Amino acid sequence: MYNSGAMDVRLAIVILAAGKSTRFHSKKSKLLHTLCGQTVIEWVLDAVLPLEPQQIVLVHGPHNEAELREALGDSYSDGEQQVGLTYALQHPALGTAHALLQAEPVLEKGITDIIVLPGDAPLIDDETLSMLFEARDESGAEHSVLTALAEDPTGYGRVIHSGDPGSGIIDAIVEEADASEEQKYINEINSGMYLFSANVFDQLRQAAETIGKSDVKGEYYLPDIVKMAPTAACLTDDFVSISGINDREQLAWAEGEILDALRRSWMQAGVTFRLPETVYMHADVKLDEDVEIGPNCVLVNGTEVGRNTVIGPGCVLDNANIGENCTLLHVRALDCDVDNNVTVGPYANLRPGTHLQDNVKVGNFVETKNAVIGQGSKLPHLQYVGDADLGENVNIGAGTIFCNYDGINKHRTSIGNNVFVGSNSSLQAPVNIGEGAYVAMASAITKDVPANALAVGRSRQENKEGYATRLREKAQRLKEQRAAEKQEGAGQAGGKQ
Ligand code: UD1
Ligand code: MG
Repeated sequence: MYNSGAMDVRLAIVILAAGKSTRFHSKKSKLLHTLCGQTVIEWVLDAVLPLEPQQIVLVHGPHNEAELREALGDSYSDGEQQVGLTYALQHPALGTAHALLQAEPVLEKGITDIIVLPGDAPLIDDETLSMLFEARDESGAEHSVLTALAEDPTGYGRVIHSGDPGSGIIDAIVEEADASEEQKYINEINSGMYLFSANVFDQLRQAAETIGKSDVKGEYYLPDIVKMAPTAACLTDDFVSISGINDREQLAWAEGEILDALRRSWMQAGVTFRLPETVYMHADVKLDEDVEIGPNCVLVNGTEVGRNTVIGPGCVLDNANIGENCTLLHVRALDCDVDNNVTVGPYANLRPGTHLQDNVKVGNFVETKNAVIGQGSKLPHLQYVGDADLGENVNIGAGTIFCNYDGINKHRTSIGNNVFVGSNSSLQAPVNIGEGAYVAMASAITKDVPANALAVGRSRQENKEGYATRLREKAQRLKEQRAAEKQEGAGQAGGKQ
């Protein structure tokens, strides 16, 4: 609970989201598009949770109610705290003042203050929002509005007051559509983010009667509240934090801002980035101290990397849990676990269900899936290891394929400790190879191999002395015979002319 002066604040957040995302050209609400793995609306919710609101209300339209409810449910948690989400329908959409009024019936009893935000400004943060309390308390105003200086204020509501930008009580906020040519030169703009006392609803109803709808847009304007009660301007020098997202270009720009902040905070936490601007990552990724991330890496969906591990260049880690002291080079890892002191790559594909235990070595052009590879085992080059359990210190030769699929079903292969499988072998699952067994290279293994046995699954070599010479002579005779036939054919054709 925010403590404002002597009074305890019981805060509600109202997020206005009844607008249509026309410029996104998307079947999905723009609030559900993602930046660094998190939806636009989740970024907004993350910004307000540290303010310890009692309740969050989402004002939606009929067009996006179902998808918002499905995506967000009836409460939101950032891992530390959980706040209830209430939904309020605005239909028809008659403007931002009308939108806020729809939240009133669902507000909990005893709410003293309301922060109102647009749903599409994902770069907002709790520090900027808490300035709204300070501006209000210092000025003695009833409400406060977050304002900013815009290089190009086109499209925004202009803030009109007698003092310096961001100071004192606001006289009026004039929308672009209603502004005079002179007012359009004002570059202090309304962010669309407000702190209101609970009197705002009565005041908005009064405004609807006395001021009414805009002649130009036919909407009830929320910024008209400044004419009903003293409202303080609260200037932020961080224009980025109040920016809204209206199309995919702005989405990409905002994601870039978030990425930049994420990478910088990991660098401050002890992670080295080589060419940080080439690394894409999600907000839920976790990196230990002394991790190093090379160029052109992608780390997403809760990927975690342990101390002293070097990732990249060129790794794509998706929900991968990588331990300490590992080296991964040009690796794609999806839904898998890698323990400590493991080296992988270059060019390895670790598919879901892969678990590489301590000291494993996976080399180039290796694919694993649903496979547990025991401590110290080696898959040095060119293997497919699917649906398998390998013990410790197993060595699988180059080109070995675990034949796990019979065309209809998948089967498992089990390999004991210290097994050696020679190069270019095919292991037909289901099959078990006992501890310490040896598989001769190029074997087709179709039945179990007992512990410490040597399995040879190929035909025996036979040498036929002098046979190659005879073959060559035969081939040479054939060549000469064909050349003679060709010449004869050409002579006959010439004779007919
Ligand atoms: C609004 C402000 C403007 C401010 C700008 C900042 C008004 C009249 N103007 O303008 O002063 O500079 O934001 O971005 O408020 N919404 C509803 N129901 C409605 C209309 C809008 O829920 O009937 C929601 C929208 O989904 C959006 C937010 O309110 O999240 C703002 O609406 P928008 O139409 O974008 O207002 P602007 O014209 O940008
Ligand atoms: Mg807008």
